[in-house]
Amino acid sequence: MAASQPQPPRGSPPVINFGRLGKDPATRALAVQDIARACRDQGCFQVVNHGVSKNVMAGAFEAASEFFQLSPEHKELFASTDIRRPVRYDTSSRDGISKARSFLKHYANPLEDWVEYWPLHPPSYRKKMGDYAVEIQRVSMQLMDAILQGLGLRPLYMQEKLEKGVQFLALNNYPQFSHRGDKVGLAAHSDYGFLTILLQNSPGLEVMPHDRDTWTAVPAIPGALHVHVGDHLEVLSNGRLKSLVHRAILNPDEARISIASIHGLSMDEKVCCAEQLVDEVNPAMYRESSFQDFLEFLPSNINNYKRFVESLKIDRA
Ligand code: OGA
Ligand code: NI
Repeated sequence: MAASQPQPPRGSPPVINFGRLGKDPATRALAVQDIARACRDQGCFQVVNHGVSKNVMAGAFEAASEFFQLSPEHKELFASTDIRRPVRYDTSSRDGISKARSFLKHYANPLEDWVEYWPLHPPSYRKKMGDYAVEIQRVSMQLMDAILQGLGLRPLYMQEKLEKGVQFLALNNYPQFSHRGDKVGLAAHSDYGFLTILLQNSPGLEVMPHDRDTWTAVPAIPGALHVHVGDHLEVLSNGRLKSLVHRAILNPDEARISIASIHGLSMDEKVCCAEQLVDEVNPAMYRESSFQDFLEFLPSNINNYKRFVESLKIDRA
């Protein structure tokens, strides 16, 4: 890593210079290796130099915070407990993991299919969040390309399906920590897709890296994007990568906003263990499933799995 690279505190997820992916093959190979190691050993990393401009990231935060500042009537227009709605606002803990957050969730890729459902207030919402979504979709494609290469899959593996895949944005709004209440804003869980790319403007995200058994704070490095492995990447990699358990704690100094972008295949497309990663020694460890299956799983999560992927494991005992 170059000396000028900001160094995270010891033990926190590695910071990867994304620009190295676009350099000569030798430099790219090293960056692919760093990403592969971070995914395998920790399940997450941060990226800098990813090409998403400061303006676009600031715009996304403005759009999100202006939305959350709207009067309840404006926000309630999107209130729904129906998890299939294209745009959904909620304030309570019906999902079983939200402790203290309000959120706005909506689909974003392809943008032209979804943007018409997005809020009209604040007036700049569609433009600013749309610009951010498109840029993050691009970053997700480049990251998947590197991660799949790191797994030894052929170049452009699943590229078309990924391009048409789901991008699901979750804008989270957490109150400031009040010393009387619970410090957890969003309880431990993993995300269902291949990758989550998260932008936070102040600290609060905590992860449980695979190589240590303790909650670890993800520092809010200005301009950095946090990336973690989701359940479907665990399936695709046939268990070589594992999805990351994470949570959000309330910030004692201020209210906090985070924007999570979850990337997977399209609604009905099944994800299974990549055939190149399955053989006699390594039989498929997971059943195939789609995003649609995940939506069906959610309300029936009677075992209270932290990770959807637990429900997909094939019992070979
Ligand atoms: C999520 C999530 C963490 C955060 O939206 O799935 O894990 O820091 N958010 O808000
Ligand atoms: Ni999450």
